[in-house]
Parts: sequence; C-alpha cells; structure tokens
Amino acid sequence: MSSRAPTVGGGAGSAPFQVGLLGHGTVGGAFAVLLEERAAEIERFNGRRPVISGVLTRTQGDFEQILSDADLLVELIGGIEPAREYLLTAMRAGKDVVSANKQLLSQHGEELFETAREYGVRLRFEAAVAGVVPVVRVLEESLSATPIERIHGIVNGTTNFMLSEMAHGSSYAQALAEAQRRGFAEADPSDDVSGRDAAAKMAILARLAFGTPVHLNDVRYEGIEHLHVDDLEYARELGLGLKLLGTAERRQGGLSVRVHPAFLYSGHPLASVSGPFNAVTVESEAITEITMSGPGAGGRQTASAVLGDVVSVMTGGARPPAPPLALRMVEDVENAFYLHLDVADRPGVLAAVMQVLGEHEVSIKSVVQRGMGERARLVMVTHSVIESTLRAAVERVGEFDFVRNTPRTICVIEEEFV
Ligand SMILES: NC(=O)c1ccc[n+]([C@@H]2O[C@H](COP(=O)([O-])OP(=O)(O)OC[C@H]3O[C@@H](n4cnc5c(N)ncnc54)[C@H](OP(=O)(O)O)[C@@H]3O)[C@@H](O)[C@H]2O)c1
Repeated sequence: MSSRAPTVGGGAGSAPFQVGLLGHGTVGGAFAVLLEERAAEIERFNGRRPVISGVLTRTQGDFEQILSDADLLVELIGGIEPAREYLLTAMRAGKDVVSANKQLLSQHGEELFETAREYGVRLRFEAAVAGVVPVVRVLEESLSATPIERIHGIVNGTTNFMLSEMAHGSSYAQALAEAQRRGFAEADPSDDVSGRDAAAKMAILARLAFGTPVHLNDVRYEGIEHLHVDDLEYARELGLGLKLLGTAERRQGGLSVRVHPAFLYSGHPLASVSGPFNAVTVESEAITEITMSGPGAGGRQTASAVLGDVVSVMTGGARPPAPPLALRMVEDVENAFYLHLDVADRPGVLAAVMQVLGEHEVSIKSVVQRGMGERARLVMVTHSVIESTLRAAVERVGEFDFVRNTPRTICVIEEEFV
C-alpha cells in the first residue's frame, strides 16, 4: 500500500478529466502518484487535466459518490467481487472503465465485453496482460486487420525469474526463496508456479487475437513445480533453454490455448528473455513474427500501463469491443517433445526404446546417453508428433522393466526465426 495520499480535485482554471480510483494498494497507489506527476504533460497535449476525483479502499470512499463524480473509473482492487459488480455498474451508468484485473477478465470477460458493447463504453485492460508490454493495444489496433496464426508468451515474470535461476544451478526451492526475497514472488506463489496466472493472461490474449470467447477453464495449464534441475542441464547439451510458455494458436480449424514448460532453441525470439521479464511473440503469414518484451510487473510499471489506458480513453483512441466469433477449442495438438528416461545400464535398452517409438511413428531428432554406474540416462528430442500418440508411446516405454522411473516429457518449440 502506498503511503502517499492522492490529490483529489483539479487545478485552478483547468477543465479536469475526473478519474475515480477503486483500490489504492501497490498499483493503485503508484497510479495516483504517476497521474499527478504526468497530469500537466497530459493536459498540454490533450487539453484536459486528469485528476483523481475520489478513492475507494476497504476503509475510505463511497462507491456511488465516486461513480457519480467520475468521467472514468479505474479498478485496481483485484479479485472477482466486488470488482466485477463495480465495473458492471459503472459501464451501465455510461462510464468508461480501465482495469488491470486478469482474474476477472479471464473468468467474466464476456459479461464485461457484452456490457461495454451494449452501453457503448470503453473497457481498457492493458495492464492485465504482460505488465507494461503494450501487447493489448498492438493486437487491438496495430494488428487488428492481420489474421493471427499464433501467439507465444512468457507472461509470468515470477516463474521466468525462477527458471533463469534454475538454469544457473539453483534448485526449485532456492529459486523460489530468491524470487520471494527480491519481491518477484508473493508469500503464496501458487497461482504463479502452477501456471494459473499465465493461463488467465493467455485466455485474455487469445480472446483478443482470435476474437473468440476464451474462459480460463478453456486453457490447459501445467506449472513448473515438478521440473527437475537435471532436465535443464541435459537440455542445455541439446541446445535448449526452458521457459513457462503460453500458446494460443489456430489448430485444425479451431483454437488451442495452453500453458506448460517448453524448451526453446536459442534462435527463438523468446529464448533470450530471462529474469522477471515478460515477452509476447505474434506470428502471422503477413508479418512473419513480431516480439514485444519488457518488465512483467511492479507497481510503477503496471501503473504506467494503466495511465496509458486512461490517456487512450481521453484521446478517444479506443473503441468498444467487437462482438465475438465462435471457434471450437482443440485439445490434441502436434509438437516436438523432450523425453527423459532413467534406465538400467545394459545392452539393448536404446534399441528396445527406439523400436517402440518407431512402432508409434515417433521419430527422434537427437539423443544424449549417459552411463551412471548401474543406471543410465537416455535423453532425446523427437520430431513433431501428435501429443496423444507421444503419450501412448511413452506409456509403453514406461512398461519396460529396465525403466527405473516414470518417463518425463516436456514440449519443445521447433521454430527459430533465424
Ligand atoms: N502488483 C502488481 O505488480 C500487478 C501487476 C499487474 C496487474 N496487477 C493487478 O492490479 C490489481 C491490483 O493489484 P495490487 O497488487 O495493487 O493489489 P493490492 O496491493 O492488494 O491493493 C488492493 C487495493 O484494493 C483495495 N480493496 C480490496 N478489497 C476491497 C473492497 N472490497 N472494496 C474496496 N477496496 C478494496 C485495498 O484496500 P485497502 O487499502 O483498504 O486494503 C487496496 O487498496 C489486481 O487486479 C492485480 O492482479 C498487479
């Protein structure tokens, strides 16, 4: 919570643009400070000076009064209720709204978009996805006429920081402790490490890129809690780096949206994004590939994206959302995979594994084999294969008596764009 109280009201002689602020915590507090710092400059090019006309927290402010005074409401409370009710009430009263609330947008987005359309008001949410990286505006405006094929995103800074630490030898527990110590992870990091936070953001991005309703429940997600540091080490030998990757893409006439750990070759634009950063790659035949990256979170950074939305509404740049199109969700998709087998070190093991993979038409691109006394590690990367086919083949491999542990698989992204 910011310790500095916001200034309420306009300067003498100005025609203020009244901003009602719901929430005055990490982002809300930083937003109030930033707005005050930037107000004169915004007035200079926009003709109106934005001012905070009222603030609501758990202990201050009256929502009805703030709503009636405001030209626009900024929601920085977070969570579902009362944020949802406040936003709906504001839009029904004809007010434009700005929010940074990914949980709300990924679970009640259609209700909010529909209300914005019905009442002809603007609903802006740049800060809900990828922090300060202006991906929402780029998708809604710059690329609005471009048929997008795929979006890849590193949209959770906490896990990206942790994976960067693990790539340098830290254990999962050490990486998490360091993320908490440096303020990149909350005391309860479960939404981050389980992939749920990234899934919410990918649902919002998919809705924007493909114009189809995508609920958080439509996104299959897997986190980083079960990763082994040795997977990162072997993969390095194969030229691969590990990320928690969100994907939204057209597949078989439908749409697949998912989040899971994935290996990238060094030529992929997201391979070099490390630490608490976010990045999003947009792919389309017309543009090949565009990558945007920047800080993933932080009060002041997020507040800057929120203020950008306020200015966009003031200048009339943003439109009410377009009506949705229906696209079916596709579950079973094709990818290359990393496969890690812990096996007994005896002759014929590799040949037996290759035979089963061959019978399922899983072909192998590269293999690393290491003897370790009685045991050996067999690490391979497949060529592209339908996921259910790979799973069936790996299940059969797991039945061999020489396989010591459950085989581990991780998706591999083959594109490099170099
Ligand atoms: N923090 C980040 O780096 C970041 C990054 C991107 C997006 N976001 C999003 O930004 C939003 C705000 O996050 P934050 O980190 O600023 O949260 P926060 O620090 O917890 O602040 C929440 C604010 O909302 C107020 N509030 C909570 N419940 C309320 C209620 N029932 N009625 C009125 N006010 C209520 C709190 O009041 P009190 O002051 O009285 O407690 C506090 O001022 C969330 O949607 C979050 O997902 C945050």
